[in-house]
Amino acid sequence: MPTVLITGTSRGIGLEFVKQYAAEGWKVIAVARNPGSDDRLGEVSGEVSIHLLDVTDAAAVASFSETIKDQPIDVLINNAGINGNRMKKFGNTDYEAWEDMLRVNTLAPLRMTEALISNILQSNMRTVACISSVIGSIGRNSTGGRYDYRSSKAALNAVIASMALDLAEQDVKVLALHPGWVQTERNGPEAPIPLDVSIAGMRKLIDDATAETSGKYLNFRGEEYDW
Ligand SMILES: NC(=O)c1ccc[n+]([C@@H]2O[C@H](COP(=O)([O-])OP(=O)(O)OC[C@H]3O[C@@H](n4cnc5c(N)ncnc54)[C@H](OP(=O)(O)O)[C@@H]3O)[C@@H](O)[C@H]2O)c1
Repeated sequence: MPTVLITGTSRGIGLEFVKQYAAEGWKVIAVARNPGSDDRLGEVSGEVSIHLLDVTDAAAVASFSETIKDQPIDVLINNAGINGNRMKKFGNTDYEAWEDMLRVNTLAPLRMTEALISNILQSNMRTVACISSVIGSIGRNSTGGRYDYRSSKAALNAVIASMALDLAEQDVKVLALHPGWVQTERNGPEAPIPLDVSIAGMRKLIDDATAETSGKYLNFRGEEYDW
């Protein structure tokens, strides 16, 4: 079975990716900054190895890539992210929090992909999925605010578009995926999309990735967004 490496797996979307891939018999490398207070990650059955890693820590990412040297990675899912405060408006910018968000949401997906590219190139599927957000679409911004999160995901989208072009010759597919507004524990039942439905939809897009879909900005249903 193929191998998937997922970041941000202590809870939410990352944890559900781990559960679904493990249930299908994939080998799962679950990266988490910490295992979570209730350790639901540790309870997932299947072929799951857990690695504690802060994806913003350059030295830790470099030594992590040394430890998994020579393991093919079919699918890398750059999921770890900070969502921030939805109500943030002009005049209330927390610049330090914004810098932290850029380090996690924008820099880390590129850092992880650069660190693991030799593992990706040893695999058959060669797919990198980055969990973006529709909030990063400049064309769809009709409500303003959220300077930190919007800019972090818009910049991530620019990173994804460049990676898709730069890695095309090596047959690496790179996707920007919007999971929908998902019923994670953080969002609660107010959100419309069940967690399992969102993750199943994104897994299908990852399975079906081709040179034609690489570099596209898609929601979990496969509908394409403008940047
Ligand atoms: N939920 C939605 O509706 C939605 C919609 C659009 C996009 N997204 C995107 O989907 C992704 C996952 O969101 P979520 O809703 O599952 O969020 P979440 O429940 O807040 O989980 C975020 C995960 O990222 C991890 N993380 C944060 N900073 C990290 C770091 N420096 N190093 C390693 N791991 C780190 C967290 O670990 P800790 O437990 O250690 O904090 C946690 O496991 C994010 O990129 C988010 O922007 C979510």
